[in-house]
Amino acid sequence: MAEAANTIKSLNGSALLEKFVIKGGKPLHGSVRISGAKNAAVAILPAVLLAQSPCVIENLPEISDVNCILKVMEALGAKVKMLSPSSVEIDPTNINSFVVTKEMAEGMRASSYFLGALLGRLNRARVAPPGGCDFGVRPIDQHIKGFEALGATVSIENSMVDARAQKLSGSSIYLDVVSVGATINIMLAAARVRGLTIIENAAREPHIVDLANFLNSMGANIMGAGTSIIKIRGVEQLHGTTYSIIPDQIEAGTYMVAAAATLGDVMVENVTPKHLESIIAKLVETGAEVEEFDEAVHVKMTKRPKKCNVKTLPHPGFPTDMQPQMAVLLTIAEGTSLVREGVWDSRFRYVEQLKFMGAKIEVDGKLAVVNGVEKLKGAPVKAVDLRAGAAMIIAGLVAEGITEVTEIGHIDRGYEHIAEKFRALGADICRVETDNVKAAIKNA
Ligand code: EPU
Repeated sequence: MAEAANTIKSLNGSALLEKFVIKGGKPLHGSVRISGAKNAAVAILPAVLLAQSPCVIENLPEISDVNCILKVMEALGAKVKMLSPSSVEIDPTNINSFVVTKEMAEGMRASSYFLGALLGRLNRARVAPPGGCDFGVRPIDQHIKGFEALGATVSIENSMVDARAQKLSGSSIYLDVVSVGATINIMLAAARVRGLTIIENAAREPHIVDLANFLNSMGANIMGAGTSIIKIRGVEQLHGTTYSIIPDQIEAGTYMVAAAATLGDVMVENVTPKHLESIIAKLVETGAEVEEFDEAVHVKMTKRPKKCNVKTLPHPGFPTDMQPQMAVLLTIAEGTSLVREGVWDSRFRYVEQLKFMGAKIEVDGKLAVVNGVEKLKGAPVKAVDLRAGAAMIIAGLVAEGITEVTEIGHIDRGYEHIAEKFRALGADICRVETDNVKAAIKNA
């Protein structure tokens, strides 16, 4: 508690110089507690800027994306006080800037939420385009379409997205693609705008419902979140509130798949089982025994997994953010599985790394054909992005011998204390400095 007070930790820098070393082959056993949802946190924190008085946000995950956002909020003039490692008090009363520079936004996708939040608060935002994971083109045309429908003028100047308005007013927006980011950004921009805003073909992810619940707890009037039509009746002011973030669906899914892949027996605690339905359905198809409780899910696998086909889709479909982890399970399944990516253009960059471990996968555009092998072999691999990094850890836990995962800064963006949590389940995984760093320290 004392250690956390008033500090925003920097996790990203150090993690670039570290790697995970995993000795595979041990089934996972025991229980793991899931943290607050990253993708809810990165929307709810910028939403605090819309309030006229301080907010307390609880069940925050301790991850570098959250630290990054809190630093941006401080730079914009918010007062940020850590109350514990997982709760923060933010006073947005004196926001005095509408600019989020490239340096401030680097490495996180969610910087774009400052566009909606600052536009909603100040009628002006200038924000560097988002960084984050590389899945090919990551357009924001639907966000811009939404802002323009509300009455903003949006331009790209010196690689910054500039949005400004004399006055915003409610409008109807049909999203041409189901976009989580555009749905959230329009909700942020519209919450305090006079009139009724309707988002059609809205995304339905659990974190969209969480953001709506948070905004409503500040006095907003948002209906329909979780369906494909969201109605936002603008209110003049939003007040401070205390709010606890939902559990992380993808972190939970990652431990569930890891339990099944290692032929383990794990209780995944502090989850919302309803958010995990598509993941549970696929695990059951592979032969896992899954039992649901009020706030926990028990996953047990006693034999080699069976093949199964997976297609990623927006919620309530199978989440794209679970695709790499599930593919690892299928690399050791009996038979041939088909994995189709239905959300991103390019989300199979990790396959090359899995092949170093003996996986037999062929990729053709958005389809991966996974021919199950009996065993994976440990190898040096890279975390090419956040979820791919989690998948490499699962592969390492399953494989015979030693796996080293480098570029783990990606993993620290979205998984709280991942090595500690896996170690508590009996895994042999540790975080060490990379050899380059050791050599540099020795020669200094
Ligand atoms: N798209 C457009 N135009 C837009 C916006 C999106 O064409 O203006 C397309 C994208 O190219 C993509 C699809 O729509 O093909 C879906 O993109 P979406 O906007 O839903 O993605 P996002 O908001 O950028 C969030 C998550 C991602 C997750 C996707 C899909 C956050 C911070 N990120 O991204 O999470 O993969 O939704 O569910 O919420 C992760 O956590 O590892 C991660 C990458």
